[in-house]
Amino acid sequence: MKKQRVIGMFDSGVGGLTVMKEILERLLDVRIVYFGDTARVPYGNRSREELIRFGEEIVTFLIGQGAEMIVVACNTSSATALPVLRDRFDIPMIGMVEPGARLAVEKTIAGRIGLIATETTVRSKAYSSGVSRALAKGTLPEDLVLREAWQLGEQAIALVKAQGCPLFVPLIEAGLANSSEARGIARTYLAPLQAAGVDTLILGCTHYPFLEPVIRETLGENVLIVDPALAVVKELEILLQHLDDWECSGLLESPAASVLGKKHWRARYFVSGDPGLFRQVGNTLLSEGIDHVEQVVLGE
Ligand code: DGL
Repeated sequence: MKKQRVIGMFDSGVGGLTVMKEILERLLDVRIVYFGDTARVPYGNRSREELIRFGEEIVTFLIGQGAEMIVVACNTSSATALPVLRDRFDIPMIGMVEPGARLAVEKTIAGRIGLIATETTVRSKAYSSGVSRALAKGTLPEDLVLREAWQLGEQAIALVKAQGCPLFVPLIEAGLANSSEARGIARTYLAPLQAAGVDTLILGCTHYPFLEPVIRETLGENVLIVDPALAVVKELEILLQHLDDWECSGLLESPAASVLGKKHWRARYFVSGDPGLFRQVGNTLLSEGIDHVEQVVLGE
């Protein structure tokens, strides 16, 4: 029987639930401990130092809850704090940016990639670096390399336009993802990307998949929308396989059963803010039920 692993995940709020949903649907042998830092949402304009401090507090908490690996289900933290967190904690960590950039490079046809993200993620330029790294590593599938435009060098693949969208996260956290305000704001934010002629759009904030219908409606059918969560699931699958192999070969100790507890559960939810609001908004956004949310105070 395959070993049930415990994944710790965090985001500033409900955004990481879009990643969690993909993981739970596709990877049946995992359990998730989710932390939403709702007392300190939004992260989108926080400094790198703050995001590192928040990340350290949260990862320490998640490890205490039995997490064997961490998915940083927040692009803003992935773009800024992740390298430091990887250095400080002896536990595997997967972020959003590298997998998301690779997926966009794989999917683009005309080579014109757009990004919507928080201001901090855009300022970090992490996605442009990710796109360059994906190209340098030659992750391009063969058929893309052979495509005429690429061969003739008419159109290099690049992140041509990044747009910060600071109003999206507060709207989603307030349960207004499907509102006329959301539609109006989406039109304003997406116009420069349309003008830049992007053929592929990275949803560079884990909150944004909740707006996908609104974004699709605004952009029409000709732009491919890339959700990095799908690439994160693939990376996680590879990591889980490695962990199984290492454990079989005795290179890794299995986690203490006492920490994990005997009762069967698939996901547990913790927040730093109002548990009731998280449950209500989370349940509106996801079809499956979030029944119990616990409040945890960090950083005091
Ligand atoms: N969902 C997060 C991200 O992916 C954070 C958004 C925010 O809190 O501003 O960037």
